[in-house]
Amino acid sequence: MDLAQLTSDLEALRARAIAAAAAAPDTAALDALDVEVLGKKGGITAILRSIGALPPEDRPRLGAVGNEVRAAVEAAISAARARLSASELAARLAAEAVDVTTPGRPVRRGSLHPIMETAREIADVFAQFGFVVYEGPEVEDDVTNFQMLNIPPDHPARDLWDTLYLDLEGRLLRTHTSPGQIRVMHQEQPPIRALLPGRCFRYEAVDASHASEFFQVEGLMVDEGTSMADLKGLLDQFAHAMFGADRPTRFRPGYYPFTEPSVAFDILCVICNGEKCPACSRTGWMTILGAGMVHPVVLRYGGIDPERYQGFAFGMGVERIANLRHHVVDLRQYMEDDLRFLGAFR
Ligand code: DAH
Repeated sequence: MDLAQLTSDLEALRARAIAAAAAAPDTAALDALDVEVLGKKGGITAILRSIGALPPEDRPRLGAVGNEVRAAVEAAISAARARLSASELAARLAAEAVDVTTPGRPVRRGSLHPIMETAREIADVFAQFGFVVYEGPEVEDDVTNFQMLNIPPDHPARDLWDTLYLDLEGRLLRTHTSPGQIRVMHQEQPPIRALLPGRCFRYEAVDASHASEFFQVEGLMVDEGTSMADLKGLLDQFAHAMFGADRPTRFRPGYYPFTEPSVAFDILCVICNGEKCPACSRTGWMTILGAGMVHPVVLRYGGIDPERYQGFAFGMGVERIANLRHHVVDLRQYMEDDLRFLGAFR
């Protein structure tokens, strides 16, 4: 080993290290280069280890070259580090940038169930005529659900309602919202304009047009001089609000124990417009509700003097109204919680 050889090894190492620093792709490569060349077990140290083999007068000269090479490589690495960390920062800032102008992800909003929606629309129509919403209990008693509505225990009209009884004391799940009429009459003095929406229950074999749970909206008006003409006018307004101002309507005689006279209220079939199709049982008409003048016996049960006051009442199935408006044919779909069905009403 002589001075010239070791000096040229150091110079070669310097050239290689400076080139490597300039070509380093990232700061991690510079860290590795630093260890490899400048570290305790690095290239410069390895060359300088031979210093003891040189004549004493050459040792300071090799030491000086070693320091010079070390300083040059350090400078090259730190220059490269400054350059790379600036571009790495720029790259990171670009990658992590938030574009505040990007539109947000759509939030899926819930919507009212079509039956609730329809019940509210019905209530909105009658609200324009001064009807106020009341609610009665779903668990009723036989007296209010039947007897005070002029349906005595053994009356054949009970066959109209297949009842779910809860116990032998006469508690039952209300079969219609009509008992709400009695409750409102007990609670209010005429003039009364009440609307009673609510869930009803019947013992039914479930199919496309029968459910054991369904909704009704009941109406009751009691005042001096309330007449059948008022009822007809109101229901016509209602049908036109729900099914269009030019939808023909008709009243037919009907039977309910709690009204006298009783009527069924029809609209011209929304499917065939009177051409007689299967949807209207080939009659051309569809019944949307039952109604009538409140029976004097029922007024009396309600604590109202039938000599002074008259009333009319009506009741309708909300599912039926919703079916006709949205052309739904199977009632069971309302209960199935299928979002594809429910979402179609929004
Ligand atoms: N409660 C009857 C039913 O469930 C519907 C009804 C008919 C209600 C005539 C009335 C009415 O208030 O006057 O089928």
